Amino acid sequence: MSDLRTIWWKDGVAVTFDQTKLPSDKVFLEMKECSDAASAIREMRVRGAPLIGVTAAYGLALAAYHSKAEKRDEMMKEINESAEVLRRSRPTAVNLFWAIDRVLKRARTVSGNTETLAKAVLDEAQKMADEDVEANRRMGEYGAKLIREEEVVLTHCNAGSLATVDYGTALGVIRAAWNQGKKISVIATETRPKLQGARLTTYELKRDGIPVTLITDSMVGYVMSKRLVDKVIVGADRIVQDAVINKIGTYTIAVLAQEHKVPFYVAAPRSTFNLKQTSEDVTIEERSSEEVTHFRSQRIAPSGIKALNPAFDITPLKYVEAVICESGVLSTSELERLTADYGTRA
Ligand code: MRU
Repeated sequence: MSDLRTIWWKDGVAVTFDQTKLPSDKVFLEMKECSDAASAIREMRVRGAPLIGVTAAYGLALAAYHSKAEKRDEMMKEINESAEVLRRSRPTAVNLFWAIDRVLKRARTVSGNTETLAKAVLDEAQKMADEDVEANRRMGEYGAKLIREEEVVLTHCNAGSLATVDYGTALGVIRAAWNQGKKISVIATETRPKLQGARLTTYELKRDGIPVTLITDSMVGYVMSKRLVDKVIVGADRIVQDAVINKIGTYTIAVLAQEHKVPFYVAAPRSTFNLKQTSEDVTIEERSSEEVTHFRSQRIAPSGIKALNPAFDITPLKYVEAVICESGVLSTSELERLTADYGTRA
């Protein structure tokens, strides 16, 4: 297990670490019941689309494992209620809903008593965690081929080990290129207001020895105009028929990338795709305005000032060069073909 593996099961407890405390402290967080998993997601102690999904799966495993139900139906009712609590934790990353639906499907289809049911739910969560790491490794292999020697890659937010179970999506691609011996470097945006880029992306890259330069979000246009960026690679919270939904600021970067002819790539596992939906179907999480009016609990705007705080934005596919996933590098026309396939199967 790498020292940045974000979640594992130990004696009836799902262990993670509290990302709000990074980079200064690595504080372990023991989730003992499903509500602990739901609060960890809501409070962004765990974050990043794939990790949110796997945490929810472990949340259901906790509900089943610690259930006192004697009958299978009673346990199933508890699992369904826990699923509803988890569904309300954060609205945008589709991996959350995908993971809950997948665990519920396994629970419904397994036959046997309460013990078999609890085992099956935990087994599914563990499987999803392992599959996530495997998908990231494969994305890394495919995506690394796109990165050339000495290139500078700009990334936004944190799409690394910390946003997944391990290895990362966008940072997984960067990591794989670096591990192949390519002397690349990274520009990381700080990612206001929660600073995932400044706190987490730089932390991960520093740990791996990958050169990284931190910029504020508003410097992206300047660095591109000075030809300091060769490629952009970001993660995603949801990929729909017409767009990529990712951390607020992604759309701005994509438009700037097009203006400056910098290829813009998205790295995300298939669990982040929902090609039955369009961007109209997506709820963009609106977080507390205090995250904007305050900095580390210190007020920075006069009291009474209104602030917007959408956590994600919508980047139309026309800005995306390709999507790197565990099955390969998909051009937008290949994505459109996949969308059409979904249509015929629906
Ligand atoms: O609000 P967060 O920190 O959960 O947002 C995370 C992102 O936007 C990531 O870019 C995305 O989830 C991809 S993570 C592999």
